[in-house]
Amino acid sequence: MLIQELKKRFETVYGAESEGVFFSPGRVNLIGEHIDYNGGMVLPVAINLGTYAVIKKRSDQRVNVISLNFEGLGVMSFELDKIMYDASLDWVNYPMGVLYTMQQEGYQTPFGFDMLFYGDLPNGAGLSSSASIEVLMATIANTYYELSLDGVALSKLCQKSENQFNGVNCGIMDQFSIAMGKEEHAVLLNCDTLAYKYVPANLGDYRIVIVNTNKKRGLVDSEYNLRRQECETAFVVLQSAFKNRKITSLCDLTPSEFLTVSEALPTESVYKRAYHAIVENHRTIKSKEALSDGNLVALGEWMYGSHESLSNYFEVSCKELDLVVKLSRKLRGVLGARMTGAGFGGCAIALVHKSHCDAYQQAIGEQYKIETGLEAAFYIAQISGGTARVE
Ligand code: GLA
Repeated sequence: MLIQELKKRFETVYGAESEGVFFSPGRVNLIGEHIDYNGGMVLPVAINLGTYAVIKKRSDQRVNVISLNFEGLGVMSFELDKIMYDASLDWVNYPMGVLYTMQQEGYQTPFGFDMLFYGDLPNGAGLSSSASIEVLMATIANTYYELSLDGVALSKLCQKSENQFNGVNCGIMDQFSIAMGKEEHAVLLNCDTLAYKYVPANLGDYRIVIVNTNKKRGLVDSEYNLRRQECETAFVVLQSAFKNRKITSLCDLTPSEFLTVSEALPTESVYKRAYHAIVENHRTIKSKEALSDGNLVALGEWMYGSHESLSNYFEVSCKELDLVVKLSRKLRGVLGARMTGAGFGGCAIALVHKSHCDAYQQAIGEQYKIETGLEAAFYIAQISGGTARVE
């Protein structure tokens, strides 16, 4: 939907002209999956699909919000001086949590807003629609309350809000890549130190195709927390088994160091989780080198390797994501494919030559429908900048 149209809709809902328009991207992670909470390196990109907010400031404490994606819910409201989690407010708990967290951190939130949201990210598909909304709200508050927080501080605040207000125990990758994204660049982020580097996305004639399996992500919260616990168990055991130096997170160990202590791990699944995390970290470092060198064949192979490990070792894939990757492997012009995000459904990405993108979508779409009965949806990702005011 065009910005002009969103502004008109704002006027119809609130009976007044808006004052500002902000856009917040979604993200896909090229590689480095399920290692942000293990102190690993991740390589996400912000994308041009995302969330818009059209806003006007108010003089009182009230915040009114409506989403054109959930128009049936109508305008929902809360008061800044009485914020509490409220399940009946549905998605509004994300922006509300961000404002609450700002208050908890001692920032003044002197006035409310009238706001209209619209997103073109598929919901719950693993492209971080919730982090997109969080960073959007944080950026609006940062601008209007003149807080002068930088993108790193905003992303930490949004992660804290999601962890504590919304009860989702996510890592920092999504909020960071959305706040700090840069056009035509991937963000290489060390999740242990938050040191980051922009890596030019030299993809030449290749495109990142997002394949939404349209498989609803079941079990994701409980399984996500379970994986985190298993990684924590592995870390505690490996930390005491590894005598040569102090390790601060699972991904602090190189794959060879891991092999010297891996026998200490108590169960098959704890071993497999740790193996994935440590080798995935290595794959991310190698992928960054491959991307910088323009070695897209190597990048594609690391992507396939990442998927296989997420499927067999970390066990967060599903038959629909596995099928997309398996079919991708057989097609001309495809260098790599993998699930992206938390898994258990949602989206895969593939690195596809621009002149094979149409054939790719057709071939995957048809065979996927035959084997699963589901319609896949496709998007060609443009790598975009981070959350910002657009008007
Ligand atoms: C979700 C979480 C992230 C990250 C990914 C898996 O998107 O929000 O913090 O853990 O899963 O890489």
